[in-house]
Amino acid sequence: MILVIGGRSKIGSVLIGELAGRGERVRALARPTETAGPLVAGVEAVIGDLGDSGSLSDAMAGVSKVFLLCGPSPDEVRFNRNAIEAAAGADVELLVRSSILGADTSSPAAFVSDHGVSDQYLRDAGVPFAIVRPNMFMQNIPENTIPSLDDSGTFYTNTGDARISMVDTRDVAAVAAVLLTEPGHTGDELDVTGPEALSYDDVAGKLAVSLERDVTHVAVPDDAVREALSSYGMGEWMVDGLVSLFADYRRSGIGGYAAQVTDAVGRLTGREPRTLDALLAETQPAAAR
Ligand SMILES: NC(=O)c1ccc[n+]([C@@H]2O[C@H](COP(=O)([O-])OP(=O)(O)OC[C@H]3O[C@@H](n4cnc5c(N)ncnc54)[C@H](OP(=O)(O)O)[C@@H]3O)[C@@H](O)[C@H]2O)c1
Repeated sequence: MILVIGGRSKIGSVLIGELAGRGERVRALARPTETAGPLVAGVEAVIGDLGDSGSLSDAMAGVSKVFLLCGPSPDEVRFNRNAIEAAAGADVELLVRSSILGADTSSPAAFVSDHGVSDQYLRDAGVPFAIVRPNMFMQNIPENTIPSLDDSGTFYTNTGDARISMVDTRDVAAVAAVLLTEPGHTGDELDVTGPEALSYDDVAGKLAVSLERDVTHVAVPDDAVREALSSYGMGEWMVDGLVSLFADYRRSGIGGYAAQVTDAVGRLTGREPRTLDALLAETQPAAAR
């Protein structure tokens, strides 16, 4: 039995299907506030919360492996620690944690440093583990960038000319499924990227083709993005997290850490990682005709 924590996330929801497709018995953690019932047909739901250690120990009863993903939260480090401690107590065979590319306790970007702290906690916990470190999700382009285009087709970021090897979350889920079900991956720490490093100017070019309209990226300073995100009602912690992550990409530059392209998807799944062009063809089918 494999317990999936974060089963409603973009990675977790696809992972559940991948695991079920491999014939694995899957249990998914659902928060108490949610309606009970399976997240995916045939998958057992168990009520629990990453903030409630007892519920995590209960959820891990009879479980041999755990996938752990927690969304961005000021409590993320504590939530991860709770789950790792519960896994240690349950003597699980393997815990696969979803982290972030470049995870580093000393990063100035909170998302990256928090993941660095959680990864280190896991390495020290004595639980057999593997870690996937995905780069920025490609899905952010159709879900966030396209809706942010103004009437002239312009969008703004504080990423400068940084190139980012953004990855399709379905490819991250496929890698996690291999780590969880195939032998020989204990201790693996995999940087999971897409097939190409794209600047947001490159993204604008691809959007222009896909949407059949002018699309322009304008690089702006951190404060301009901070102000814009705050004006949408986004909380301060999340605004700071996003602005500092994008600033980190900018510092990383044209050939920095965010631009590295790895072979993790191809090596583990046997097929090449999806491209942004392919994702846009799926999400903007009319324009892609
Ligand atoms: N967005 C990116 O480009 C990117 C890139 C690399 C890495 N990451 C990392 O990927 C992870 C996922 O990000 P995301 O934006 O995809 O997250 P998301 O869609 O918001 O999903 C987060 C998941 O965590 C669960 N969760 C949150 N708090 C919980 C709690 N207290 N107890 C139990 N479950 C809880 C959520 O459950 P509910 O469904 O109940 O809310 C949900 O399933 C984060 O760690 C992020 O740092 C993101």
